Amino acid sequence: MGKTTWNFCRKSLLVIGVALLPYFVVGTVHAEEEGLSTETKACLKCHDKQGEEKILDNKEKLSLHVSTKAFEESEHRKTDCEDCHSDIDAKNHGKVKKPIESKRAYSLSMKDSCRECHKKPFKVYEDGLHAALVKAGDEKAPLCSDCHNSHTLRSVKIATPIEETPCANCHEDIFKAYARDVHGLERAVKGKAAPICGTCHKTHDVKAASFGDGIKDNCLGCHKKATAQHKDWLPNAARHFEAISCPVCHSPDAKRRVNLRLYDNAAKKQLTEKTGVPRFEKRAKAADLSNIGLDEMALWSLLTEFNRESGTQNAVLRGRLEVRSGVEAHQISEKSKAVKDCDTCHRPGAEAFQSVTLTIADPDGRPIRHGVQKDVLNSLTAMESIRGFYAIGSTRIKLLDYALLAVLLAGIGGPLGHMTIKWLFRKARERRLTAQVDTRTMAGDRRHDEASK
Ligand code: HEC
Ligand code: HEC
Ligand code: HEC
Ligand code: HEC
Ligand code: HEC
Ligand code: HEC
Ligand code: HEC
Ligand code: HEC
Ligand code: HEC
Repeated sequence: MGKTTWNFCRKSLLVIGVALLPYFVVGTVHAEEEGLSTETKACLKCHDKQGEEKILDNKEKLSLHVSTKAFEESEHRKTDCEDCHSDIDAKNHGKVKKPIESKRAYSLSMKDSCRECHKKPFKVYEDGLHAALVKAGDEKAPLCSDCHNSHTLRSVKIATPIEETPCANCHEDIFKAYARDVHGLERAVKGKAAPICGTCHKTHDVKAASFGDGIKDNCLGCHKKATAQHKDWLPNAARHFEAISCPVCHSPDAKRRVNLRLYDNAAKKQLTEKTGVPRFEKRAKAADLSNIGLDEMALWSLLTEFNRESGTQNAVLRGRLEVRSGVEAHQISEKSKAVKDCDTCHRPGAEAFQSVTLTIADPDGRPIRHGVQKDVLNSLTAMESIRGFYAIGSTRIKLLDYALLAVLLAGIGGPLGHMTIKWLFRKARERRLTAQVDTRTMAGDRRHDEASK
């Protein structure tokens, strides 16, 4: 090889070397950034074996397999096994059998391992309903690891098919209904603009669905024009929104019912059962010995007991129209199918008023129910003469009829042109019995007062 050639080669190599240098450097740094630590690799040496499992005390099988590839691709690739599995005893691990009672027991033992690095979601989760259920010993309520697989989890930013929402694993029937309703279909096609479970219920901060106004404010947060659009045809839309849960009209095939909620009229919220001192079920059972549903007297005596206990007259009943099951709350259809016909509700014998339930909120806000005889709705009028029943808040029914009339005559009578005044009296009576037994604060009352000035 001649000198010049050698020189040329040296130069070229240098040039190539310099040119490649960034690649080597970046390559190495990259490898260091992305590569698993020696400790993690050591764990995986034993654990990346398909089919390895451990039989637990209750005979369940715990898979010991952790895929290196999936772990490397997961969001936790920079986290060491031992960051979460800090209790592994290096000396004995894998050699001495460690008894584990069940899968659930193991999950529970790992439950706090997420806290350190995810303080915020952890705190939010702990304040939610699912965590309260876990604390109360509910074996089926989700821990972090029921919704997130630590070894394989991908970024939440990656859009996944709706079936992969973790909620579907446990709320299977609701998921199936949702997947076929307007939102599920829209979500499947268009992605994040349409809501999925966590959008309406929150993911970590899940609360009881029907407590308070339920999900109403979330709905209206997206459907900003909805209130105005309902006002176009529905008199006092705000009042209807308060007394009727949205799916009642928007799940057109759903069965409906009246929920008479025990309500604290001073605090302006549902009465809640205190932890450890359940009163409701005992009282409801005592008032309904033959278990055929509370009748009017039983309802009244139950209410009296709640009021006697608090020394006030604040316990009232507030009616709310709801669908009868969780599945039916997730069958929202397109608007052309929604209930628009006033007669669906404002008519004697309307379907919605054939089923009645009395509820108090449990400490988590979920309803505890007791059946009520549907005739109670009608007999509330009959009870007019019984003073005690005013304690419910059921004041001056006749006056309300006039109030309703006043409202209608005041201008929103347009869509009601075909209705006779006689009809109105009849309907108004039925309607008010059902959905709104608490009427002291009712707009109608005030309106009547104004109208009579
Ligand atoms: C020498 C092979 C080996 C190594 C290395 C190893 N494991 Fe294991 N591991 C096992 C075996 C075998 C079992 C089942 C033990 C039993 O049946 O009680 C096991 C069980 C487990 C379990 C199930 C729960 C339990 O405690 O039994 C976890 C979690 C676990 N290993 C994590 C790790 C982590 C993290 C590392 C690295 C720090 C690691 N392992 C390293 C062999 C190994
Ligand atoms: C971000 C936290 C975290 C990291 C990192 C992590 N694990 Fe786990 N691991 C868990 C949790 C939580 C469980 C319990 C899973 C459950 O509740 O179903 C678990 C369970 C296990 C089990 C029992 C079987 C199973 O899958 O439920 C094995 C074996 C295991 N881990 C091994 C490993 C190994 C090996 C590594 C490192 C490559 C690792 N883990 C990294 C959190 C982690
Ligand atoms: C009931 C199921 C469920 C439980 C339980 C749950 N998560 Fe989540 N989590 C989700 C879902 C679904 C998302 C995706 C949310 C989204 O797409 O906006 C998520 C997102 C996250 C995110 C990323 C976004 C954020 O909020 O920071 C983190 C981190 C997280 N979860 C950690 C946790 C931890 C830690 C726990 C336990 C304290 C936990 N999760 C419990 C379902 C759950
Ligand atoms: C040692 C710290 C550490 C621990 C412990 C840990 N994580 Fe993480 N986790 C991370 C890091 C780092 C990321 C990467 C994304 C980031 O920075 O948020 C991550 C990401 C996530 C994400 C995806 C967030 C997103 O934005 O897509 C979820 C979900 C999550 N972790 C759940 C858990 C759960 C559940 C546990 C407990 C079993 C846990 N983590 C324990 C460090 C940790
Ligand atoms: C590991 C199982 C599990 C997973 C996963 C799960 N849940 Fe739950 N959830 C339960 C259990 C158990 C209850 C209490 C019984 C019931 O009401 O169905 C509950 C209750 C609820 C309630 C209250 C119901 C009521 O009566 O008001 C809501 C809302 C809820 N879950 C929403 C979700 C959402 C949203 C997700 C996903 C982000 C989810 N759940 C994931 C088990 C689960
Ligand atoms: C568009 C908003 C929305 C979405 C999306 C949604 N829900 Fe709901 N969910 C509701 C409404 C509204 C109710 C009824 C609340 C009421 O009584 O007023 C409800 C009720 C519930 C309940 C209580 C059922 C009962 O028995 O009382 C559970 C559990 C629940 N949803 C879980 C889920 C799960 C799981 C998903 C995803 C598959 C989901 N929801 C998706 C709005 C939504
Ligand atoms: C008394 C029955 C009833 C109640 C209660 C009701 N809706 Fe409607 N809603 C309808 C009807 C009927 C339409 C279709 C109106 C039309 O097209 O003329 C409609 C239309 C809508 C639309 C489509 C608006 C548009 O024109 O684009 C949305 C969104 C909607 N409702 C949301 C809600 C929400 C959220 C609630 C609960 C706060 C609710 N609705 C309560 C009957 C009702
Ligand atoms: C995350 C935003 C979001 C939330 C929350 C939400 N929706 Fe929707 N909704 C949509 C989108 C997007 C569509 C499909 C596009 C459209 O028709 O507006 C839709 C469609 C509808 C439709 C059909 C409208 C039509 O034109 O036929 C009704 C009815 C409806 N939603 C009612 C509700 C009710 C009731 C709730 C609460 C229980 C709710 N939505 C919560 C985004 C949302
Ligand atoms: C899904 C059942 C349902 C449908 C459909 C319905 N309503 Fe109502 N309406 C109610 C309930 C329940 C109340 C009681 C609200 C309350 O307690 O004040 C009510 C109350 C009223 C009131 C009294 C409002 C106030 O100011 O107190 C009027 C007026 C009325 N409805 C008219 C109509 C008309 C007109 C239509 C048809 C365009 C209609 N409603 C459709 C259930 C319904």
